[in-house]
Amino acid sequence: MDYAAIRRLTSRLWGPVCAVTAAHGDDAGGQIAVGVLSASILPEHPRVLIQIWKANRTHDLIAAGRAFALHPLAADQADLVRRLGFRSGHDGTGKLDGLEWRPGITGSPVLASPPGFIECRVVGALDATDMTVYLGEVIAGEWRGGETPTVQAYEMIGAMPPEWQEEYRRHDQEQREAAARLLDATTDGIP
Ligand SMILES: Cc1cc2nc3c(=O)[nH]c(=O)nc-3n(C[C@H](O)[C@H](O)[C@H](O)COP(=O)(O)O)c2cc1C
Repeated sequence: MDYAAIRRLTSRLWGPVCAVTAAHGDDAGGQIAVGVLSASILPEHPRVLIQIWKANRTHDLIAAGRAFALHPLAADQADLVRRLGFRSGHDGTGKLDGLEWRPGITGSPVLASPPGFIECRVVGALDATDMTVYLGEVIAGEWRGGETPTVQAYEMIGAMPPEWQEEYRRHDQEQREAAARLLDATTDGIP
């Protein structure tokens, strides 16, 4: 299979750049995600799907707390993308320190700076080996962004200074290696 050609197609299927936050007990954290999708037929039963990589600390917080908050970001929020998306909370530093946020109904951190948020309880989870796909039932939310457009990752990353882009590439490579290790563990020996 021509993986480069497939990637040219699948890269067009990513969602907008979002911040995903979660908490369990006194632990709170967050990350960036573009594996996000609205999953509702009836507007009065809003749901979303998110893809969260197992190497992420936010994955552990969602798995433990069974809830998350999702915030679509605006194009001028590159600082937040770098803070939440270029390093892991596994390194021990509080990723939300210094950010303005409040605990939502589920305890998931609701960030003040994005144009909106939804808060979800996990009602389903698909184990995809290197990631978990969570189905979230929306239990609260707000959009205060007016006509603020969402932004795609290639636009957001492409507008960053070269040294930030290099940081992104390094972290992305580490994530790919972690995913490959998890996938190899189950595909080992299978032709
Ligand atoms: C533009 C962008 C898109 C990303 N998309 C996803 C995604 O869809 N799912 C995911 O689990 N991680 C995604 N990540 C990676 C995490 O945000 C990143 O690994 C983060 O450092 C994890 O932090 P944590 O370990 O504190 O949870 C993305 C990162 C960036 C910068």
